Amino acid sequence: MDETRHAGRVAIVTGAGYGIGRATASRLAREGAVVIGCDVSDEGIASAREEFEAAGLSVALEQADVTDQVAVDRLVQGVLERHGRIDILANVAGIMDWFLPAHEVDDATWNRVLDVNLAGPMRLTRAALPSMMEQKSGSIVNVGSVGGLRGGAAGAAYTASKHALVGYTRSVAWTYHADGVRCNVVCPGGVETNIGTTAQPRSQWGMAQLGPIHASATGMAKPDEIATLISWLASGEASNVNGAVVVADGGWSAG
Ligand SMILES: NC(=O)c1ccc[n+]([C@@H]2O[C@H](COP(=O)([O-])OP(=O)(O)OC[C@H]3O[C@@H](n4cnc5c(N)ncnc54)[C@H](O)[C@@H]3O)[C@@H](O)[C@H]2O)c1
Repeated sequence: MDETRHAGRVAIVTGAGYGIGRATASRLAREGAVVIGCDVSDEGIASAREEFEAAGLSVALEQADVTDQVAVDRLVQGVLERHGRIDILANVAGIMDWFLPAHEVDDATWNRVLDVNLAGPMRLTRAALPSMMEQKSGSIVNVGSVGGLRGGAAGAAYTASKHALVGYTRSVAWTYHADGVRCNVVCPGGVETNIGTTAQPRSQWGMAQLGPIHASATGMAKPDEIATLISWLASGEASNVNGAVVVADGGWSAG
């Protein structure tokens, strides 16, 4: 923990109500950043606020759905008006897909999962990039998944959304490198979070196909084990790391 690592920096963290997003907001604040977190869940915001206040951390929390461009623009514009800059964008908000396989996935699940997991980071990035380009600096960290690197970890929609997020990350990394903007993606394996709400298996057949991969899982990480990586990628220490796909899965996908 380096309490001055992000001193003077302004960070936006999506999905800050629970899990990896909450841990990321907490870590960035403890490391000196001005942090603005957003979440779609009022309960998540209330419980994260309680935790931050108890820890004496100043993290502003706002209700915003990453699938709502108006809400995203309001969030980003508000941050720019109040703080004048955005140095770090951590796109953490994400949902699972009930492990539905390709022949069983319904349109609503497919569209919602792609909208939150892929178009969400796109909307935040699109809104934040102009100010980052103007200030000639900025670090965007997307949260992908091992499900973005292999086909046997999740359902069809989640797998597709996280694979696409890797491509999107590389596109942004390459396109804006001369503007001083870096973009990387972290791919966790299992993490102890609240994501179970969209991870109740709805397909016996689908789960059976994933069984061999799930059986080889190397255990569950704590959210802060992912947050520390996000913080490092967002920091100047990672100045030459751009377009990287950083796996944090305890070795699961190495086997
Ligand atoms: N937990 C795991 O095992 C695991 C593994 C790999 C990747 N991930 C990824 O990590 C990220 C964080 O997930 P988590 O495990 O911390 O889950 P989580 O459910 O604990 O946290 C996700 C947060 O995102 C919020 N959210 C969901 N939809 C949103 C929306 N439309 N707009 C704004 N906020 C929204 C939720 O309310 C929640 O607070 C996700 O992108 C997920 O895909 C998680």
